[in-house]
Amino acid sequence: MKHYLVTGGAGFIGSNFVKYLLKKYGDLRITVLDDLTYAGNLGTISDNLKDSRLDFVKANITDQNAVKSVFEKYEIDFVVNFAAESHVDRSIENPQLFLETNILGTQNMLDMAKKSWITGKDSNDYPVYRKGVKFLQVSTDEVYGSLGETGYFTENTPLAPRSPYSASKAAADFIVLAYAETYKLPINITRCSNNYGPYHFPEKLIPLIIKNILEGKKLPVYGDGSNVRDWLFVEDHCKAIDTVLTKGKIGEVYNVGGHNEMKNIDIVKLVISTIRRLMEENTEYRSALKTGIESINDNLISFVKDRPGHDQRYAIDPAKISGELGWTPETCFKDGIVKTIRWYLENQDWVKEVTSGDYREYYDRIYGNR
Ligand code: NAD
Ligand code: DAU
Repeated sequence: MKHYLVTGGAGFIGSNFVKYLLKKYGDLRITVLDDLTYAGNLGTISDNLKDSRLDFVKANITDQNAVKSVFEKYEIDFVVNFAAESHVDRSIENPQLFLETNILGTQNMLDMAKKSWITGKDSNDYPVYRKGVKFLQVSTDEVYGSLGETGYFTENTPLAPRSPYSASKAAADFIVLAYAETYKLPINITRCSNNYGPYHFPEKLIPLIIKNILEGKKLPVYGDGSNVRDWLFVEDHCKAIDTVLTKGKIGEVYNVGGHNEMKNIDIVKLVISTIRRLMEENTEYRSALKTGIESINDNLISFVKDRPGHDQRYAIDPAKISGELGWTPETCFKDGIVKTIRWYLENQDWVKEVTSGDYREYYDRIYGNR
């Protein structure tokens, strides 16, 4: 039986990963460690916490004593490090927090895992670790920087981050690789493209657009909307992480993506037309709407001041994870976006809960002067 330590397990991808594991495996234990920042919500996993295989620790990944005590209490086999400050716009406002959490937090998690897993030394004086343990760093395609109109990110693409967020994630990747070289710590790194799906915090493009449409608010599109992102349904990312944990070669980096590049403006128009169609088909969905159904149209789109240093295009080449580990995505974008929108229409209470804190103030600050 494996015991997973999932940091950031109350956030978007981490919570989906916890749900995925609990459903897929009978015999396992999971400890979620999360500091419940604005992006973490215990309600997201409260039903799962009724399952005796799961427990929760509220702690910051930079807190040495708190993390150490988790490793002392449990025999952890896998660390999956999702915990991070994850929003590019917030990193432009407050880079320091991103460096603290994403870099120093990762280094602290590595250090505590290393100390707890060491069983001795080999003839070259390198540490030897308990069999079967692994540290998986959940990274991002943003560490590769920005692409022009053609080409893909492969695992050999040099890291060239351009925002404080992506620079902090790239730094974390280098620290993880340094622990693999210097201390022979068994690690993998996954670098995934943009995720979408249930429990996505409505500061990110797709859930923000859905929320604004329902409230009859303008839909802020940065610049001319021509920036391209490569979208993957969150469950497919969870499946990729599970695949890398169980089958990934120690020390390797795997890119994760499903060849689904879209311009932001096309995403926004698709979300508008899909919400309108779902409301026309099912009148019950209209209870989520603050305005009339006729207001759901492209006139809601508002081109606003661009994000500074806005990366133009991301596109992942997933040949390594597909060819070597047999991972392929299951949900195509056409189905995934409908599933996602339906989920938001049916889970307005969750949206209200997670945006009841400082969301309003954040929204006015970020979009007020755009
Ligand atoms: P998220 O912002 O939704 O969730 C982050 C979680 O981490 C929250 O639960 C938050 O409370 C927790 N957290 C933040 N700082 C913490 C700290 N100091 N100590 C403990 N917990 C802390 O993020 P997400 O979108 O779920 O992303 C998860 C990971 O996946 C991140 O590392 C991100 O870089 C990476 N990633 C995200 C995407 C994407 O499209 N969202 C794509 C590729 C990689
Ligand atoms: O590529 C993986 C990354 O994807 C992850 O590492 C990040 O954690 C995650 O937040 C995401 O980063 P992006 O910056 O690509 O996601 P975001 O949803 O913030 O923006 C997607 C695109 O939409 C981007 O080109 C900026 C644009 N945008 C975003 C917002 C919030 C708008 O045009 N308007 C908006 O209001």
